[in-house]
Amino acid sequence: MKALIKELVEAYGPSGSEGPVREIIRRHVASLCDDCRVDTMGNLIAHKKGSGGGKKVMLAAHMDEIGVIITHVDEKGFLRFAGIGGVNPWTLLGGRVLFANGVKGAIGREQPKSPDDKPSLDKMFIDVGATSKADAPVGVGDVACFDRPLADLGKRLVAKAFDDRIACAILVQVLRELPPTPHDLYFCFTVQEEVGLRGAHTSTYGVEPEIGIAVDVTIAADVPEGPHMNMELGKGPCIKVKDGGMLAHPGVKNLMVATAQRLSLPYQLEVLTGGTTDAMAMQLSRAGVAAGTVSVATRYVHTPSEMVDYDDVLHSVKLIVGMLRAPIELG
Ligand code: CO
Ligand code: ZN
Repeated sequence: MKALIKELVEAYGPSGSEGPVREIIRRHVASLCDDCRVDTMGNLIAHKKGSGGGKKVMLAAHMDEIGVIITHVDEKGFLRFAGIGGVNPWTLLGGRVLFANGVKGAIGREQPKSPDDKPSLDKMFIDVGATSKADAPVGVGDVACFDRPLADLGKRLVAKAFDDRIACAILVQVLRELPPTPHDLYFCFTVQEEVGLRGAHTSTYGVEPEIGIAVDVTIAADVPEGPHMNMELGKGPCIKVKDGGMLAHPGVKNLMVATAQRLSLPYQLEVLTGGTTDAMAMQLSRAGVAAGTVSVATRYVHTPSEMVDYDDVLHSVKLIVGMLRAPIELG
């Protein structure tokens, strides 16, 4: 599974530019589902039919990652930019970006007026090695992601886009391991989550599921002076109770807990004080969907060096497979 993870996290795919990621996933899932289509927004929807008598379940993992978009090119060829999604300026200094056409750039900052000046995106620029506006190989509207390879530390992995390619990898692996089930399953690899859950809005409306399960990262609090939250690396999949955008459906949450207990899998309950996932959009679709989230505890979320625990990844696969292969009754 590590080869799949490496392929996915190193791919280029800021919000709105998910094409390369979609092609990788399509290549892996096409033979594992009954049909595989791309909707108007760009969501990839892989349908695995059930044997009958089960539930209609949608699973969502977002393909997009945060990035930057060029807003202006000056006479010397320096590029000004805005964030796509939640880009924290502290994480950019000294970093590198990669554009769709393969151009790479270094991120610089205007000379601070005082030592206390905080970095802000409007005081930063990208240097692609151009000497003038005319020879800049990218321009206004071009989009870049962070440029950083996967580092395999053994038990722990570090990469630029575990949010949310680790979930894309988990859902591909679920499709690989899942035996035939009674349930009608829609594996949705969504677009534009980082800019407002936009792909999940439309794909859920189209699929019209009874149950929605998002897979995403959550904040690991087990770092020096970390926030007062429960989630830690290596303690198992996080079963969402609440985040900044939703309260998980109790039936879905309880199903996840019962499945983890039945299979003797480690798990942790997640109450995240800010942020949300595609499950929020799923929950509010049409007349409402019973929605929940399986999260992978992740350190340094929305930086070019997000860190996950590999055992958590494998246990997340087992939890989801275990949930889907059994009859589902929401209490
Ligand atoms: Co994110
Ligand atoms: Zn995410």
